[in-house]
Amino acid sequence: MIPKKIRTAVFPVAGRGTRFLPATKVSPKEMLPVVDKPLIQYAVEESIAAGAEKLVFITSSSKESIENHFDRNPELEHVLSVSGQKSLLSIIRNIIPPHVTCIYIRQEEPLGLGHAVLCAQSAVGNEPFFVHLADDLINSEIPCLEQMRKHFELHNSSLLGVEHVHDEDIHKYGIVATEVGSSGISRVTKIVEKPARKDAPSNLAVVGRYILTPEIFKKLSSIKVSAGNELQLTDAISSLINDEPVYILPFDGTRYDCGSKLGYLKATVQYGLEHAEIGVKFSEYLKNITKPQTK
Ligand code: G1P
Repeated sequence: MIPKKIRTAVFPVAGRGTRFLPATKVSPKEMLPVVDKPLIQYAVEESIAAGAEKLVFITSSSKESIENHFDRNPELEHVLSVSGQKSLLSIIRNIIPPHVTCIYIRQEEPLGLGHAVLCAQSAVGNEPFFVHLADDLINSEIPCLEQMRKHFELHNSSLLGVEHVHDEDIHKYGIVATEVGSSGISRVTKIVEKPARKDAPSNLAVVGRYILTPEIFKKLSSIKVSAGNELQLTDAISSLINDEPVYILPFDGTRYDCGSKLGYLKATVQYGLEHAEIGVKFSEYLKNITKPQTK
């Protein structure tokens, strides 16, 4: 079977971001900058690098700034143009390349990740698609979704980005059990949303990168509210594994949980160190402040 090209990326961005209050009182958590780009822009760039041409944002009423960020801003463009700031002008004009379309769908009630993905059904259609959670920022040579796309083209089945987590973090994630099939690749045999450590089938956690076949929508339509009183994507995947294989990919790269203050700070330091404009000076600064003080 020829694998279908993945053209669509879904970004569930309706969450409240309570772990980052008061910063997220009026500003969406996805708009928090890591150095000079908001988290959602890193997400969009990763998806486009993996071939996405249709970006579907599942938003809520307080997230208008995301839509504005990806729209043209004629006033700002005019100011930059008359002041001769050509490189900045080009940066803000080309955040979304011309061949890419953005679609915004309101999630009317905060009913969970599963419900958010279901809201994207009509925009996705009968094709495989990416789901990208912007607060999981992954720093890697080959963008994580591009690693996953290549894997998908070989096996044509749903695929979850995973990594090992410490025992004390198990309760924050969807956790999988897997078995290695005859083809030598790991297939999900069980998936549980945010289990207690003692009930977890492993410490292999799903991070915010998924490739899903459209069969997931049927499953999402029939799941019931569960963990956290929400409709969980994990429960739909748990049902999907009875009908078709779902694989895992332990991707190459470092993941930063930018929904947490510590993860966000670590990402800021790493991306600051790698930044073309300020990296060298920032590195010198860090060396200075971490030097042991002599008395
Ligand atoms: C969601 C998913 C969870 C997954 C996690 C990755 O949880 O429900 O299965 O492991 O993203 O970040 P959330 O972080 O939205 O609570």
